[in-house]
Amino acid sequence: MTASPTYGELTDKGASTNIAWHEASVGRDDRSQQRGHRSAILWFTGLSGSGKSTLANAVNAALFERGLATYVLDGDNIRHGLCKDLGFSDADREENIRRIGEVAKLFLDAGVIVLTAFVSPFRADRDKARDLVEDGDFLEVFCAADLEVCESRDPKGLYAKARAGQIKEFTGISSPYEAPETPELKIDTGKQDLAYSVELVIKALQERGVIPAA
Ligand code: ADX
Repeated sequence: MTASPTYGELTDKGASTNIAWHEASVGRDDRSQQRGHRSAILWFTGLSGSGKSTLANAVNAALFERGLATYVLDGDNIRHGLCKDLGFSDADREENIRRIGEVAKLFLDAGVIVLTAFVSPFRADRDKARDLVEDGDFLEVFCAADLEVCESRDPKGLYAKARAGQIKEFTGISSPYEAPETPELKIDTGKQDLAYSVELVIKALQERGVIPAA
């Protein structure tokens, strides 16, 4: 499953030369004004099975219903395409999160509230994604369900496989998860009801002036 080499072996990092930045004629502020809301990155992080995708999709639906421009980038889905060349070594995860950070930044510029649902287990990788954008544009949402809860849910049967040694470097079992120290939001997705968790995220967006009050 994780047979890929470290990412540095696949490509000559930083190989682009003779390139110049082209200023766009329509900017983020123009889009915000037209749409009536700001854009932001909602970065959901947590163990596999902690409910990141479920919460991100539920928030997405609630925002969509209000007519706002939103999009979900989900770990399992993105690994079918953009990141299908990556496995789960530390280096591959770093590259995975680097790409998602860059893609999220593009969505931000496009005026979209982008919700990313990746385990993103390493603090340094999440912080690099945060540092790509301005303060206030990146909201880390820690889906803090305990390992025991995630393992008992085991929606994809992966914890059982990891315990049986059939999946190596599985987060929480044989690969570390570094919990955020100061996330903008920490939600116990093991205990909290989904509708209430959605409300917490929506409130955080309203308080920061990303979206108008209801
Ligand atoms: S990340 O660590 O690079 O952020 P990502 O969120 O893209 O991971 O993918 C995690 C998903 O891949 C999990 O929800 C699970 O379904 C699957 N998966 C397969 N192997 C592993 C593994 N070794 N560790 C964690 N998740 C894995």
